[in-house]
Amino acid sequence: MASTARAHTNIALIKYWGKRDADLILPYTDSLSLTLDEFYTTTTVDFDSQLKHDHLMIDGQVISPDKSAKVAHFMDLVRQMSGQKAFAQIKSVNHVPMSAGLASSASAFAALAAAASRAAGLNLTPTELSRLARRGSGSATRSVFGGLVQWHRGIDDESSYAEPIMEKVDFGLEMIAIMINRQQKKVSSRGGMQASVDTSPYFKIWPEVVEQDLKAIKIAIQERNISKIGEIAEANAMRMHALTLSAQPPFTYFEASTIKAINLINQLRQTGLNCYYTMDAGPNVKVIYDQKDRPQILAALGQVFGQDNLVVAQPGPGIEYLETI
Ligand code: DP6
Repeated sequence: MASTARAHTNIALIKYWGKRDADLILPYTDSLSLTLDEFYTTTTVDFDSQLKHDHLMIDGQVISPDKSAKVAHFMDLVRQMSGQKAFAQIKSVNHVPMSAGLASSASAFAALAAAASRAAGLNLTPTELSRLARRGSGSATRSVFGGLVQWHRGIDDESSYAEPIMEKVDFGLEMIAIMINRQQKKVSSRGGMQASVDTSPYFKIWPEVVEQDLKAIKIAIQERNISKIGEIAEANAMRMHALTLSAQPPFTYFEASTIKAINLINQLRQTGLNCYYTMDAGPNVKVIYDQKDRPQILAALGQVFGQDNLVVAQPGPGIEYLETI
């Protein structure tokens, strides 16, 4: 049986950076994210007893088995859980408003987890699905749910899953993605976070930092206080990036245009606009702001980066199952 599912990407406001178990993908800390409506992946999985290995196609391109080892490993897990023996045809399409850009492992593995588990006959609860998605990519655990989502680090496979804390965001929290560079990142998040864990002397205090930031942002969310949310998210992101700069050898995801964007957002804030920034394992900057300030923020960013390089995103939904083909 074939099954099709869609998952939206998410951007962490409190970052996940570091695993204490690389096989189970158990993180050192909780994290908290916003699922976005504009970026998503739709995946169809069809088990077929005639196949000799899993066949993966992304955006119409066949991916060779040596480049799809992570997916094959993930499919093995689904086979183990379900008793399904066949390999599968997997077709995945990334819906991003412009070429390349923010295609992410979060939406990819959340959609794959949903489609593959259904196609294999498993009927997982959202929590179980979140645990399964986690085994593909940590951030995928959060993309099972919409809106504002917390990933509980847990102590084992069973207790490490995400939970929505506000599935329908009822205040004007929005993000603009500034597309600074659409190329593949040089240091993967997986490699980057491991290097930080292994070599940054500051990693020791990261769990404590996250605990405090998480507590504060949850209060700010309850208060629907966008400037407080933005301020905490921005600080948390820069603390995460400090873990790359302090690794041995040091590395960074920043590029010259990243700093340009940060400076511009700081300037806009001084003029009274409610805007903040966050960044992940790549140079693109995401602006966190209050919807009512969108026209002015878009105009100012557009002058520097070009309107074509800006994507406005609103809170998005969790997993959706589409008609099975
Ligand atoms: C900076 O989820 O991509 O985006 O678990 O190794 O697949 P793996 O890593 P991944 O890391 C995401 C890192 C981040 C922060 C976040 O999304 O919380």
